[in-house]
Amino acid sequence: MANIQSLRGMNDILGNDSELFTYFIENASKIAKNYGFTYIETPILEETALFKRSVGESSDIVNKEMYQFIDKGENDVCLRPEGTAGVVRSFVQNKFDRAGGTYRWYYYGPMFRYERPQKGRLREFHQFGCEVFGIDSVYEDANIIMMIKDILDFFKIGFKLQLNSLGCPKCMPVYRDNLVKYLTNIKEELCEDCNRRIETNPIRVLDCKNEKCQQLLYNAPKITYNLCEDCNRDFEKLKEILDFNGVEYEINTNLVRGLDYYSKTAFEFTSNEIGAQSAIAGGGRYDRLVEFLGGRSTPGIGFAIGIERLLELVKMNQEQKDVLYLGALCEEALNILTKIATAKRKEYKTFIEYTPRGFGKHFNIAEKNGANIVALIGENEIKESTIFIKNLTTKEEKTIKIEDF
Ligand code: HAM
Repeated sequence: MANIQSLRGMNDILGNDSELFTYFIENASKIAKNYGFTYIETPILEETALFKRSVGESSDIVNKEMYQFIDKGENDVCLRPEGTAGVVRSFVQNKFDRAGGTYRWYYYGPMFRYERPQKGRLREFHQFGCEVFGIDSVYEDANIIMMIKDILDFFKIGFKLQLNSLGCPKCMPVYRDNLVKYLTNIKEELCEDCNRRIETNPIRVLDCKNEKCQQLLYNAPKITYNLCEDCNRDFEKLKEILDFNGVEYEINTNLVRGLDYYSKTAFEFTSNEIGAQSAIAGGGRYDRLVEFLGGRSTPGIGFAIGIERLLELVKMNQEQKDVLYLGALCEEALNILTKIATAKRKEYKTFIEYTPRGFGKHFNIAEKNGANIVALIGENEIKESTIFIKNLTTKEEKTIKIEDF
């Protein structure tokens, strides 16, 4: 009988990956706390209606990618495909909308989307996200963007920031009508997906990945030239704050995001080092979402970082730090090795093998433990106060005084 495997697109996190994972959570949380965020945890399973109402019925996420099922109590539920909807549900359920004031919450955990797995695209992936409630000042939009930049800078990750404004209920419908007029004229030449979207969600046509569609969209009306006075003022102010703080960005008028709840500011942080799935983080303003989910109208803004994608980049930058393996060639060497291990562990990951063995055996075990430096002590070395060292990568060998090691 074949052994049971994890499901396609769902991975265990272990070894070096789990170390990096916890390192990321620790440090991203620290940065979030310095920005005034506190931790929130919401359930992984929620009512399907929550995502239909927030992420949107016409979005790919809700339409095609939900892990949705009927539970034993006949409830229509699904594994969360993203974190914002649950946090907003909690905000309303716990009556923070009625209390008024400002709330900053961060979270991390697994999200589930039934997509076709490929490099950087999983069915179970992890996000680190932040949501802010009760602030409509565009300074908070800039604050959020600078916080993501701080996190990426901390992990020494290069990125491109793409920025757009999706307007508000005043200007977006007018723009949408103009766009539909333009799209209807070129309908025959657009791909099948775009044709479907003209009917269901015309704005999403703008981020079609098909090259021919992109060429046809070159002359399409641009949302940033069709914003109302308020939205335009906020968008200009946001750019000014980012410029003032030395944050570089590109305006991408085709950046519409795959979730329907956004208005005004929308952004994405991308990297061209991780292949086609280049978005490391995304977010924006969602001033109407609290109301959509039955709460009292409250502005909101947030983002989520894709942890797996970010850690791919961290791994690329990770310098290979030496991992030491200490082995005894005779019983008497063990005491000396324990002392060396304690000193070396101040800086390096260090293994010590308690059973005295020959050279070859030690090299094998060291390799299995991921060590690249093997240091051995036997009778001769004890007599001379020396230690034998082999670098398993370069194959270089030497015997040096213990005090020089
Ligand atoms: P999102 O853009 O759908 O936004 O996802 C955020 C990030 O999650 C992406 O930039 C990407 O790094 C990662 N991600 C998404 N799908 C996958 C996948 N299948 N495999 C691996 N990584 C993936 C949201 O989810 C919004 N809730 C963000 C937000 C918070 N907006 C406002 N507040």
